[in-house]
Amino acid sequence: MTREADHVPVLLDEVVKGLAVVPGETLVDGTFGAGGYTQALLGAGAGRVIGFDRDPDAIANGPSLVPDARLTLIHERFSQMDRALADRDLLPVDGIALDIGVSSMQLDQAERGFSFSNDGPLDMRMSQSGQSAAEFLNEADETEIARVIRDYGEEPRARSVARAIVAARPLTRTSELAAVVRKALGHHAGMKSDPATRTFQAIRIHLNAELDELEQGLRAAERSLRAGGRLAVVTFHSLEDRIVKRFLRTRSGATPAGSRHRPMAAAGPRPSFEQVAKPVSPSEAELARNPRARSARLRTAVRTDAPAWDQEKAA
Ligand SMILES: C[S@@+](CC[C@H](N)C(=O)[O-])C[C@H]1O[C@@H](n2cnc3c(N)ncnc32)[C@H](O)[C@@H]1O
Repeated sequence: MTREADHVPVLLDEVVKGLAVVPGETLVDGTFGAGGYTQALLGAGAGRVIGFDRDPDAIANGPSLVPDARLTLIHERFSQMDRALADRDLLPVDGIALDIGVSSMQLDQAERGFSFSNDGPLDMRMSQSGQSAAEFLNEADETEIARVIRDYGEEPRARSVARAIVAARPLTRTSELAAVVRKALGHHAGMKSDPATRTFQAIRIHLNAELDELEQGLRAAERSLRAGGRLAVVTFHSLEDRIVKRFLRTRSGATPAGSRHRPMAAAGPRPSFEQVAKPVSPSEAELARNPRARSARLRTAVRTDAPAWDQEKAA
């Protein structure tokens, strides 16, 4: 386990600004990771930060990365944050930050199996439980593998990649998977990005149900924020950004709740978010420092006093 905070936080100043921290407030960092956002929020005067992460390593390393009595760490998925906060009498909160995706600590540790450049076991599980990448790739049929690679990797040649994977089974190492994908798609020096990038991303998103987590996390945040509370969400690719954009558009009343099939539907619920800001991208200076920030987008909004649209599902 690493104890170094070798993850460079993305859009950090912009997130702190978007959360407009008032000293003494209680804030949630839904994706603690290496604690970069938490540290900045505490530095901005937060009275308390509740840090969530689904990765047990992130939670175990947290106290040494951010030694501060104002920090409470919870090993839980952010989609469950409202229940976890309610259990501790911490609702409602003043602000919530989500920084979607994997941390550099996860990517750089070969044994976690997220990386195609460092050989490791085909794992890719953020929570370190559930189905591993090896189990999925060795057991699923070609059509299912192709669907995952197409839908979550936006890989135009998903079928060819899936066929090559099935022909090469069993696969146990990330280097084997990377070699199979490169061979299927053709790889030559000078290519802008490794052809395995999209397939690795797709399998990771599928195994960790990341898009569903994001959908549910936004709803959990809506249930957790007080009126006037702020939400800041950083995403890393268009599939995720689209989910946040649509959620805030609908919740702020910019997209009517009725559909074109029900044009006369009664007015929908009152907007639960307002002041939805234009998306923010990293500055040139940040990109020069941290090329991994390339596709990051920040969206922020402020909670209104309207009830949450989806009340908590019965336990
Ligand atoms: C991009 S990193 C966050 C980095 C952090 N902002 C920092 O500055 O150090 C994302 C982290 O969120 C965690 N994560 C991803 N999905 C999650 C979820 N649904 N619930 C809780 N944690 C999640 C990952 O395990 C990872 O540690």
